[in-house]
Amino acid sequence: MLLEPAGYPTRFGHLPRWAGEPLKLLEEGAKLGSSFGLRLGRRAVVGYSPQWNRMLLSDLETFRSGGSFSSLTPYLSGGIITADVPEHRSRRQALDPSFHAKAVRGLRERLQEALQALLPRGEFEARAWASQVALTALNVAYFDARFPLPELAAFLAPLNRAFPAPLLPRPLRFASARHRTAQMRAEGHGMAAHLPPEEVLVGLAAGYDTTAHTLAWALWHAANYPQWHTPEGDLLLIKETLRLYPPGFVGSRRAGRGFEFAGKSFPAGVWVLYSSYLTHRDKSQWERPLEFNPLRFTGRIPAWGYLPFGGGERICLGMHFAQMVLEAALSLFGPLQALRGDPSPKPLLTLAPRGELWLRVRAKRP
Ligand code: HEM
Repeated sequence: MLLEPAGYPTRFGHLPRWAGEPLKLLEEGAKLGSSFGLRLGRRAVVGYSPQWNRMLLSDLETFRSGGSFSSLTPYLSGGIITADVPEHRSRRQALDPSFHAKAVRGLRERLQEALQALLPRGEFEARAWASQVALTALNVAYFDARFPLPELAAFLAPLNRAFPAPLLPRPLRFASARHRTAQMRAEGHGMAAHLPPEEVLVGLAAGYDTTAHTLAWALWHAANYPQWHTPEGDLLLIKETLRLYPPGFVGSRRAGRGFEFAGKSFPAGVWVLYSSYLTHRDKSQWERPLEFNPLRFTGRIPAWGYLPFGGGERICLGMHFAQMVLEAALSLFGPLQALRGDPSPKPLLTLAPRGELWLRVRAKRP
């Protein structure tokens, strides 16, 4: 048996704490060992060592996405995200060409133009602005910027709210998003013209709050560590932001069969979790892990120790796109000043900055 952090002595033992304070629960569990148990209505096992990450992310037969946490929200329970091998592989092969680095570079100019129009002056709140950027970027990529933005914002808004908002079924919202996507497809706009509609909807959901929250944090750190906010430093600053604040702080699978790890056996059916948040803050992987120091990305990165986009065959489909959006958005700004805010991480469906982040634009980047 694995050790467990404190919970209630019932089958639902850790569920209330998981819903309210998952980071604290994970951190408490991590002190018990590099893998530990949770009772979330079903037995769950969490690990964060590189060996654990490699096992979970490489063995797609054993560690299945169907029945994982993604299946619990209507936004992520479709398309590629909950498909499993062998179907996952063929779906992924069909999607990859639209998202590889070269295809994404082709979108950069259009995106930069669209972002210029959003450029704030004077004081602005980074979380709200970053959400506009993420929506606009997804709109450019998927729909040639033709999807009415308020409609897109309304469809995706529940992803940014506290539980249970992202988990509730929303048949009307989904029906109208599907209808609009079908219209975009028929009119031949953007990637929606050739991708299956369910892949468009899960791509929007997977790419929205993740990109928005990362950008808000990156802007905050660009203001607080101006020595890194340079054309050469921005990429390292983004990597370090994603290390300390990985929006996808925990990834989940369902064990399709029993498995063994480090001499312990686990039965089929358990939830199997990895946590980029714990891995990225693990002292045995990273020196002074709580320090914000982009310099560490000029050196060796621990194998299976840095997973803001997951890893293996299921690595984030939108990784190159997200990186391009983040770099393009940061490159709009010259020096920034941090005014007030609370950047500590707050767990929603993904990690988000806890408070508003107020910044002032001091000058445009030449
Ligand atoms: C900074 C922004 C982003 C972060 C941090 C992020 C993070 C992640 C992570 C951690 C995974 C793996 C989940 C797992 O192993 O269970 C993932 C998968 C995925 N992401 Fe992203 N993501 C980002 C942006 C995007 C964007 C912009 C898109 C789409 C345009 C996207 C689409 C997807 C899809 C479709 C998957 C599932 C891939 C598969 O199962 O084969 N993501 N993402």
